[in-house]
Amino acid sequence: MLNLRLILASLTSVLLMLIGLAGNATGDTRFGADSPPLVGFNARIHPEYSYQGMVASSETLASEVGARILEQGGNAVDAAVATGFALAVTYPSAGNLGGGGFMVVHMQQSQQTVAIDYREVAPQASNRDMFLGANGEPDPELSRVSMKAVGVPGTVAGLLYALEKYGTMSREQVMQPAIALAENGIEMSFFLNDALKGRFASRLRENDASRSYFFKPDGSPYKPGETWVQKDLAKTLKRIAANGRDGFYKGPVANAIVAEMERHGGLITHQDLTDYAVYERAPVRAQFMGYDIVTMPPPSSGGVHLIQMLNILEGYALKDLAPNSAAYLHLLTEAMKYAYADRSKHLGDPDFYPVPTEDLISKRYADQIRSRIDVTHATPSSEIAPAESFPRESTQTTHYSVIDQHGNVVSNTYTLNGSFGNGASVTGAGFLLNNEMDDFSAKPGSPNMFGLLGGEANAVEPRKRPLSSMTPTIVFKDGEVVLSTGAPGGARIITAVMQIILNHLVFEMNIADATLQPRIHHQWMPDQLFFEPGISRDTLNVMERMGHTLGNMPFVIGNSSSVAQRNGVMSGLSDTRRPGGSAVSVEMIRSQSSR
Ligand code: DON
Repeated sequence: MLNLRLILASLTSVLLMLIGLAGNATGDTRFGADSPPLVGFNARIHPEYSYQGMVASSETLASEVGARILEQGGNAVDAAVATGFALAVTYPSAGNLGGGGFMVVHMQQSQQTVAIDYREVAPQASNRDMFLGANGEPDPELSRVSMKAVGVPGTVAGLLYALEKYGTMSREQVMQPAIALAENGIEMSFFLNDALKGRFASRLRENDASRSYFFKPDGSPYKPGETWVQKDLAKTLKRIAANGRDGFYKGPVANAIVAEMERHGGLITHQDLTDYAVYERAPVRAQFMGYDIVTMPPPSSGGVHLIQMLNILEGYALKDLAPNSAAYLHLLTEAMKYAYADRSKHLGDPDFYPVPTEDLISKRYADQIRSRIDVTHATPSSEIAPAESFPRESTQTTHYSVIDQHGNVVSNTYTLNGSFGNGASVTGAGFLLNNEMDDFSAKPGSPNMFGLLGGEANAVEPRKRPLSSMTPTIVFKDGEVVLSTGAPGGARIITAVMQIILNHLVFEMNIADATLQPRIHHQWMPDQLFFEPGISRDTLNVMERMGHTLGNMPFVIGNSSSVAQRNGVMSGLSDTRRPGGSAVSVEMIRSQSSR
């Protein structure tokens, strides 16, 4: 009897919250049209503020490198490239030369926004079944730890492409700080020391080159505060600074990569390296609540599904629901399930598979999905399938965001895939290799490292790029940038980015508050709702009664680094979900140097 009363009471509370869906309440407007120029001034948590430009990244030394480049008169692209090379030295679990990524660049003067694809590529000798073991089933060792896990790296080509096309400084200028950090050494941080003692360290210890780069000769990790020098990495960086992309894709570094492949059964050849191409693609774009969302197109699934979910959610009076209420999170969860179901079937490298991007991001398709969503009950994932046709209408990746005083912005996510990639370093060249090939679908219906499913669209093929979830995104209002964000987190990237955007745009939280709210994640399969600590138990109880199955999420959901801008005031935050990051402004660099 008591139970029945409890159930009735909670159902009533769900219904009361859902009344908000009809939408005429005033909602949670912390700062309306008359808000002070610092959006979110009246908030619980504050970002770093600036008038002159800033860099938010997951590692403070690297943010400082970028901010110093801005202070010296470089633009956002100069600073982003300098930060990218610096992270390769100071944040080796994800910052890289041996991986790849995606960069969305906005140039304010020309009003041009482009998406730079420097994703890794499958070597020519790859084949569809290369990650199946003798029993015909996917072998995670092969796709994650072996030398076959390595895609042809794109980072060096990508960063240099951006610099040459959109930067203003020389290679030597933007690379010098990274070279100095590698050559003179940096203080071992608590964070990296901890990571080197963690579960990924065993892989690094098993590889001779990685052992020599990341550990002392006696095999112990450098202690926090001890100086850690990376001489071979400094040499590689100098070769790149001197010779451009040929310093990496040809000559001694290329020889070292190919030798490493030959020693350990890898597939990358000299031809694969010299053939590596960066693509500048048209970003995917959508209007959302009067804002323009500009984000990464395939071969990342991030932008397509971010927009798909925002389109679905735009049809509800979200603002009238409290942030992270059960009614609100229910709608997010249902949108997530439909998006990830479509991802499993329709997304892959667009140069190999006809990805129906326009269909997936159409408002009409979103209307169709919304008509299937029950606002009071969870639809089981087994009843949600990827679309057969569309209504015709016509631990690790890292993200950083840079804004300069001219309004140019860079939103960049790059990765080795797993934390420290496949754990193997290139002997003599000082950098780690990726295990990005695991992002392909080894076999239809078999999940990858992030539990993601895929099929034909994302099968391994020579020279194809594995499907990604990375979602570097820039948001505009009337032609002015209001937000640049993105995150690591594998499958969880897209949902994390969406929640930051919703908190900032719908609930008008400042970028710190928007980022630090607890997040949820659902990826269709498994049919489980993952949540971070901080979502109230009462909310979760209500959601369980709506039919959601709660899952255990051992990780945090994303770790973003964002910058925002309102009325000429810039603000930035590096997510506190992982230690060691910061947003560093030009003002901070100036006050450092005046001391
Ligand atoms: O491209 C992707 O979607 C993945 N390789 C990203 C990996 C990742 O975010 C791991 N970080 N925690």
